[in-house]
Parts: sequence; structure tokens; C-alpha cells
Amino acid sequence: MAFEQQMKDLFEKTASWITPELENAFPSGVREDITVKAAMYSLMAGGKRIRPMMIYMSSKMLGLTDEDMHIAAKFALALELIHTYSLIHDDLPAMDNDDLRRGQPTCHKAYGEAIAILAGDALLNRAYEILFEITKDHPRCSYAASNMARLAGICGMIGGQSIDIASTDKLIGLDLLYDLQKKKTGALIECAVTTPYYLIGDPADDKAQMLVKLASDLGLMFQIRDDILDVTSSAEVMGKNTGKDERDDKATFVTLLGLEGAAGKLKEEYDSALSVCRELEKAGLDSSDYIALTDYLFNRDK
Ligand code: IPE
Ligand code: IPE
Ligand code: MG
Ligand code: MG
Ligand code: MG
Repeated sequence: MAFEQQMKDLFEKTASWITPELENAFPSGVREDITVKAAMYSLMAGGKRIRPMMIYMSSKMLGLTDEDMHIAAKFALALELIHTYSLIHDDLPAMDNDDLRRGQPTCHKAYGEAIAILAGDALLNRAYEILFEITKDHPRCSYAASNMARLAGICGMIGGQSIDIASTDKLIGLDLLYDLQKKKTGALIECAVTTPYYLIGDPADDKAQMLVKLASDLGLMFQIRDDILDVTSSAEVMGKNTGKDERDDKATFVTLLGLEGAAGKLKEEYDSALSVCRELEKAGLDSSDYIALTDYLFNRDK
């Protein structure tokens, strides 16, 4: 409760920071193309924008200049494009076969499968174009850009989706479940939390390592809560169908450990995230927004 107003402010600030970027994600000359319309349909449907919010929070915490805030907004745009493409493909009949996303019919339900596949491809390619544009103007951002590509790929999100699909209908061990969840959800969250640091700091130093650890805890919290909400929440609240993981025999924290077991793991990550926030404070960084976010991720109901 104590953090409710702080989170409301952060959601509002993120929205006003990132919405104009999202609205202009594609050049005006291609906006009438059916694939771009499908991509924009999913992009503007109203996601929580958690990943852009983390980029915003880290940028503020690290005291980025106005010029770097502008660059960070471009990274946030690229990341939200990648996230939205991952959702469009995740919902396809060949993957999770879902018909509701962000409170409206999934992209393939609205535009057909072929256009939905292309819409995902177009979002991913546009994201890379944006990253190349950034590094052309600001070569010092090349580590952050290549790191985003790495975390979106087989060592990150796609790798996690690959394990997710391969584990369906199978009983997997806890180690593989952690690997799956860290990659499929944790990787893009790591990218969000750390990208602003890579614009100004050394990826190998202690602060970078603290941010990676914080992101790992937050990423796991995010996905464990997603797994819990799949059982305890409703389509009306979530804007996506629930009860899917059990139906599809998915490997999740809940299907493996039960609701109570999953809640225990969520609490472990919550405690760990708060202790990293305290370390960041000791290192001279104001982590109050991340403390509020940790509380939000622990309790979120959508
Ligand atoms: C959904 O992500 C996919 C997962 C990683 C669980 P979000 O819950 O961030 O989805 P949106 O962006 O708010 O729709
Ligand atoms: C998907 O995880 C994570 C992605 C990389 C898109 P889920 O399949 O659990 O996400 P939801 O529940 O459909 O949003
Ligand atoms: Mg999935
Ligand atoms: Mg899914
Ligand atoms: Mg899920």
C-alpha cells in the first residue's frame, strides 16, 4: 500500500516518456501496410510497459543526462518492440494458441496467422534498425545494443521459449525450470534494468554486477507471479486468458511446486531483490523506486 502512489507516478511518467516513441515506431511511409497495422494493433493495445519503466527507473537512478535519457528512450522503444513481437509469436497456434492478449483478440485472431507472423518479424527488424541507428550516432552505445540483441536471442528470450516448448508435457527438474524462466522472461528484464548503465559505465564493474543480480531477482519474481496469476486471476483482470498452463501441461513454478511452493520461491526472490536494493544504496544510488517496484511485483494482480 505504501508504494501505491509511487508506482502510479512511475507508470504515468513512463507512459508519457514512451508513448510518443511507440506511436511513431514505424516510418510514416509504411503505416498503411497491413503488417504494420497488425504490429501497431498489438503494440498500442496497452501493455503495462514494465520494461520501458525499468529503463526509465535505472536512467533516473543513475542520473543520466537529458541527451542520454533521449537515447535511453530509443532503447526502451526497441525493447518494447521486441517484447511485443515475442507476445505475438508466443500466442500463435503453433506455440501457446491463445486468443486474448492485452485485453483484445490476439494478433493472429484479428489479422490471420500469416500477417501475425510477419507483424512479429517486422517488430523485431524495426527494433534492430533502431539499435543500428543509435550506434551510428553514438558508438559508445554499441555494447548496450549488442547486449539487447544477445538477451533477445537464443542465449536469452528465444532460448527460454525453446526450453518452454521442449518441456511441454514433460516433468522437468527445478534447475531446468530456473534456466527456462530466467531466459524467457528474465533476459528482457535484465536488458531493461542494465541498459542505462551500459550507456555510461563499465559492464564488468561491481555496479553492473549488482544491477544484473537485481534484474535476475525481479525477472524471476515477474514470471513466478505470472505463473501464480495464471491460476488465481481472471481474463477480465489480466487481459489474457488464465488457466492455460495447467491446460497445456506447461512447466511452471505452479505446475511443478504447487501454489504454496511457488509463493515460497516468490518470497525468496523478493527478499533477495530487497537486499540488492540495500547494496545499491550503500554504493550511493537511490534505489527507492526499485524498492517500490519489488513490492509491486510481489503483490501485482495483473
Ligand atoms: C507477459 O509480459 C509475458 C511474460 C513475460 C509473462 P507482460 O505481463 O509484461 O505483458 P504486457 O506487456 O503487460 O502485455
Ligand atoms: C511468455 O511466457 C514469455 C515470452 C517470452 C513471450 P508465457 O507464455 O507464460 O506468457 P503469457 O502468460 O502467455 O503472457
Ligand atoms: Mg508461452
Ligand atoms: Mg503464453
Ligand atoms: Mg504465463
